[in-house]
Amino acid sequence: MRLLLSLLTLLPALVLASGGEQLMHADNNLSDSDSLKRGAKIFVDNCLSCHSASFMRFSRMGQDLGISDKELLSDYMHGNDKVGSPMNTAVDKAAVATFFGVVPPDLSVVARSRGVDWLYTYLLSFYVDNSTNTGMNNLVFKDVGMPHVLWEQQGLQKAVFKTEKDADGNEHPVFEKFEPVNAKGLSQTELDKKAENYQTTVRDLVNFLAYLGEPIKTYRQALGVKILIFLAIFFVFAYLLKKEYWKDI
Ligand code: HEC
Repeated sequence: MRLLLSLLTLLPALVLASGGEQLMHADNNLSDSDSLKRGAKIFVDNCLSCHSASFMRFSRMGQDLGISDKELLSDYMHGNDKVGSPMNTAVDKAAVATFFGVVPPDLSVVARSRGVDWLYTYLLSFYVDNSTNTGMNNLVFKDVGMPHVLWEQQGLQKAVFKTEKDADGNEHPVFEKFEPVNAKGLSQTELDKKAENYQTTVRDLVNFLAYLGEPIKTYRQALGVKILIFLAIFFVFAYLLKKEYWKDI
């Protein structure tokens, strides 16, 4: 029985593993408001030009993350004129579509459809591939139409594949590792530092995307804790009352 149970718990992992590359862990923290604020800034500066997040208004984001209207107008809004407006792209979507072949999807709930770990892995897994239109490919989104917009922060990398034979004897490439490209001037410590900074950037960004997908989540969790504390205190009184009532029976 025990064995069966442990095999069952392994099942989702096996299914996921067979579906392609292993995902990295975002380890984001929705109650870290500094991280959310940094993520919001990265989002408006690098993503909002193509992707909208139209379920969110700038003013609501400001209230939730502690950004004043003045700050919103000067640092977070490019082209949107009112703090009450939804987070739409400033550019014409049709024009972007002719350029990239697809309309960049709205990212309001992408963290719920894709999951934070997928998003984290996606943003870390762009690699140089001269056979595509953008000159880039992505390990978890094959032949993706999106350019690697954060390439300057990450630096370019290439993917190393090895050939493996499956059970039928057919050979196919299996991802082995990423290697930095054109990074000759940089020492290993500098490369590590850069990689670490980029991971933090992506973690903040993914944290913000998770907030976008469910803005109420932190409030809900905080409320849940308060309710549990209330119930615990209420239990004591209810118990004392019960004792009092049943004393003479
Ligand atoms: C130059 C335009 C452009 C910019 C800037 C851009 N993207 Fe994209 N993005 C696209 C396009 C086009 C697609 C659709 C790719 C496809 O379907 O092949 C896409 C797809 C995506 C997807 C996959 C959505 C899904 O579920 O299929 C995610 C996630 C994403 N972008 C996140 C981001 C983030 C985060 C940023 C900011 C760092 C960003 N994008 C900046 C053009 C852009």
